[in-house]
Amino acid sequence: MTKLFFKYNRIVISALHRLKYSTVPKTDSKLSINGTEFVTDDYTNVTPKILSYLNRNLHLDKGNPLSMVRQRIVNYFYSSFTHRGSPDFSVYDNLSPIVSTKQNFDDLLIPLDHPSRVKSDCYYVNRSTLLRAHMTAHQSELLRSGLDNFLMIGPVYRRDEIDSTHFPIFHQVDAVRSQRRDQLFPKNEDLELFEPTFDPTKPHTFTNSISDPTKQSCHTLEATKLIEHQLKDHLLGLIKVLFGDIKYRWVDAYFPFTHPSWELEIYYNNNWLEVLGCGVVRNEILAKAGPNNSIAYAFGLGLERLAMALYKIPDIRLMWSNDSGFLSQFQNKDLNAKITYKPVSVYPQCTNDISFWLPGHLSIDTFMSNDFYDLVRDVGGDIVEQVKLKDKFEHPKSKKHSLCYSIVYRHLERTLTQAEVNRVHKEIETAAISAFNVVIR
Ligand code: PHE
Repeated sequence: MTKLFFKYNRIVISALHRLKYSTVPKTDSKLSINGTEFVTDDYTNVTPKILSYLNRNLHLDKGNPLSMVRQRIVNYFYSSFTHRGSPDFSVYDNLSPIVSTKQNFDDLLIPLDHPSRVKSDCYYVNRSTLLRAHMTAHQSELLRSGLDNFLMIGPVYRRDEIDSTHFPIFHQVDAVRSQRRDQLFPKNEDLELFEPTFDPTKPHTFTNSISDPTKQSCHTLEATKLIEHQLKDHLLGLIKVLFGDIKYRWVDAYFPFTHPSWELEIYYNNNWLEVLGCGVVRNEILAKAGPNNSIAYAFGLGLERLAMALYKIPDIRLMWSNDSGFLSQFQNKDLNAKITYKPVSVYPQCTNDISFWLPGHLSIDTFMSNDFYDLVRDVGGDIVEQVKLKDKFEHPKSKKHSLCYSIVYRHLERTLTQAEVNRVHKEIETAAISAFNVVIR
C-alpha cells in the first residue's frame, strides 16, 4: 500500500475518493503493495479496502469453511492420482495475487477487446498490472517451469455488486493435467494425440482452428474424447466425494483458453448452480509454455459456491466473519463430517436511500455503478449488506440525470442503531459528492 493508503482514515476520505474515482489520469504517483512499488496511471482503481484484504488468505485459515473445502479437494486429487506412491499433482496455494496483464489475459489467448479486461470489472494496479481475476493467470508460468499436473489455489479479485452471494474477492481452485501419448494411450500404440497434418515440433507452421465444436483441429478425435471423459470423470468423482448423490448437468461453454469447454452445474436449493468451468487446454498455450507433445485438461472451480452449498451458509460475507458463533461450527471438526450451518441469530436490516443528480457531463449510461459500489464499500465497510440501483430519472427540462440507490445496512453480529446508520450514510453522501461531483437530492 502507498504511504497515502497506510495513512488512510475518515478525515482524508474525500480527498482520497477524488483521487481514486476521478477520470483524470493519476500519473507519477507510487503505490507500494506488499513491499513492491508500482507507478499508478489512468487504469489504477485498486482501493485501500481491497488492498487491506490482500494478505488475508482465508483459504489457508484452519477451521474456515473455505479452507476445509480446499483441503478436501486437495485430498481427493492426492489420493486419486498417484505415481509410484507419491501424489501426481503439486499444489500451489500461496502465489502472489499481483499479476501482469500478460499472465491474466495475453498468455491465455484472451483478445485485447475481451469484456473481461474492462476497467470496471477488474482491480488494476496500473495498465500492465492487476489483482488476478482468476487463478488461470498462473497456468502458463507453471507449465513453463516444467510442471504437468498441478493445482493453483487462492483468492481472485473482481469488481462486483454487493449482496449475499457476491463479494469482490472469492477463492478458486484451478488445475492442469497434461499427458503424453504413452500416458493417455498406454495400451494402444497406434492411437495418436495429433492429426497427421500437425507437427508438434513446429506448431507455428499450423493454424490451430476451433471452428469444429468437438475438438481443436490439431488434436485427434480419439485423444479429445478420452481426455474429455477423464476430465468429466475426475470432476464428477470430486462432486460425489463432497455432496454424495446430487443432480448435475454439463453445459457447453466457451473460454478463450480451452476448447472444447464445459461448465458443471449442480442442482441446489431448487436452482441450477454453476460450480466450475473446464475444457481441453488450447494447444497454442501448451506449445508456447509447456510440453509440446502433450494434451491437457484444465478446470477452475469456485470455493465459496461449493462451501455455501455444502454447509448451507446463506451469506458469502460470513466467510470473512471472526464471530466465534460462526467459526466454532467449523473449527476442530472432522474434515468429512456433515456440517450444516445454524444461524446464531438474525439482526435486523436498515435501508437508507441515496439519490443524486449527475454532473452535466455524465449520463445514466456513462456513470459507472461499480465505482459507486466501491465507494460505498470503502466508506461503509462490512455493515453494507447490499447496494441496489432503485430508480433512474431524466429531468424533462434540464435534461439532467438522476439516480437512486438503496443501501441496506446490517451487522452480522449485532443490531445497528438508526443513528449509527445515518452517520455512515451521511459519510457516503459526502464522499459521493466529493468523488463524482454529484448533487444530493
Ligand atoms: N478461469 C475460468 C473462470 O474463472 C475457469 C476455467 C479455468 C475455465 C480453467 C476453463 C479452464 O471463470
